[in-house]
Amino acid sequence: MYDIVIWGATGFSGRPAAIYMNKMYASKGHIKMAIAGRSKSKLEKVHAELGNPDVGIIICAGADAEAADVVAKAAKLVCSAVGPAAKYSNEMVQACIDNGTDYCDLSGEIHWLRKMYDTKVQEAIDANVLVVNVCGLDSIPTEYGVKTLQEAAFEQYGEYCNEIKGCFARGHIDVAGGSFESGKGVMEAIANDPVMEDMVSNPYSLNPQGQIEGNPPCPDLESVIYDDDFSQYIMPFPVGQINARVVRRAHALADYPYGKDFVYSESKLAGKGIVNKMKAQLENFFVSLFVSANPTKGVGKMLMSLGPKEGSGPSDEKMVKNGSYSFVFFGRTPSGKTIQGYCHSELDPHRGTAALMCETAMCVLKHRDELKQTSGFWTPGTAIGEMLKVNLAKNKVLEFGIGELDSEVGYAASI
Ligand SMILES: NC(=O)c1ccc[n+]([C@@H]2O[C@H](COP(=O)([O-])OP(=O)(O)OC[C@H]3O[C@@H](n4cnc5c(N)ncnc54)[C@H](OP(=O)(O)O)[C@@H]3O)[C@@H](O)[C@H]2O)c1
Repeated sequence: MYDIVIWGATGFSGRPAAIYMNKMYASKGHIKMAIAGRSKSKLEKVHAELGNPDVGIIICAGADAEAADVVAKAAKLVCSAVGPAAKYSNEMVQACIDNGTDYCDLSGEIHWLRKMYDTKVQEAIDANVLVVNVCGLDSIPTEYGVKTLQEAAFEQYGEYCNEIKGCFARGHIDVAGGSFESGKGVMEAIANDPVMEDMVSNPYSLNPQGQIEGNPPCPDLESVIYDDDFSQYIMPFPVGQINARVVRRAHALADYPYGKDFVYSESKLAGKGIVNKMKAQLENFFVSLFVSANPTKGVGKMLMSLGPKEGSGPSDEKMVKNGSYSFVFFGRTPSGKTIQGYCHSELDPHRGTAALMCETAMCVLKHRDELKQTSGFWTPGTAIGEMLKVNLAKNKVLEFGIGELDSEVGYAASI
């Protein structure tokens, strides 16, 4: 029996996850782990890189119920970096529920998460299985960034913010083939289904059932605008649309501690001055061509064929070059007081994501009895709470702070 199986350990997020988990925990004898995926030869290559003969290998293709059952039976917890989840992970989630195995993943595919929340929550509760999604750069920095800012606001002012804006402030995110396919999968799902399109575009589409409508307006940003609070231009951030929905879900799951009128939105800093504004407008134009395309026909289909291919992604050198990442947060309380905060990681977004998922999994594995929630579908913050933030800081994965991020930071973030 393994403590943790990392499924999708050959991918651009999964491989760094296997490396991190082995280096931090398996190689020190803290856990027994295995790596899983569809390709034996690729898994053997990762295994050789780990250099730990105690790490197991399990062959498991996506969308294969029997193979998923083998993985779920062999593990206390499955960590999935396989994508798109909508295509490949239904069987794995089911196998985990059937076998009493906890599950963490990176998925931020809104249509798939919605399907899971609508159909699998009660089954997971009945099976005492904990499912924690979006355990990467989406959406841990944002979920915990908001939590940190709210705690500080309450401590300083005796009131929570009713408005928080988050911005991706620094970093470069390379999109690997699996991530691109995952985004494309969401677009395909909404392309010819107006009901699904309405659902996914609803800012509260990840809220618990019955709490999607009737919330304060909070539209996704669509153009480059000047923001007085950040004193510079801000622009749409596609990942931010997922993050913001996760923050709203987490708030609803926690029974609205910041008040029913609390709004959160997320975008990307674009810098000061006309040159930065024009650069941001150009970038936004190209990104929105992809994001608004119908991938099932015509020009949209052609555009999608230009995206990263399956198996492609940044080299190790490129990941290092992509450097660290940061988010900044600005909050305003009902009486008009303001507060700023940030989170910062010295890891690049890929390795950062991998480490975030591993630390989430370790909290679930090692501290199950102390968690806020132990069954059902939860966000990292609502399931685990403060412990994850403490461990992320301790292991130098991600640190949160109150105040302004240092002055050199804040410009030219790009995806
Ligand atoms: N939450 C976050 O912050 C975050 C960040 C990054 C990525 N993600 C998500 O994580 C997932 C992986 O992204 P990535 O960037 O790491 O992409 P990637 O490098 O392309 O990885 C995709 C992984 O899925 C596996 N896979 C693909 N088809 C499969 C199949 N039929 N059966 C079994 N495994 C299969 C691949 O295996 P092979 O190596 O054999 O092809 C690979 O291990 C995506 O869904 C992405 O959206 C989330």
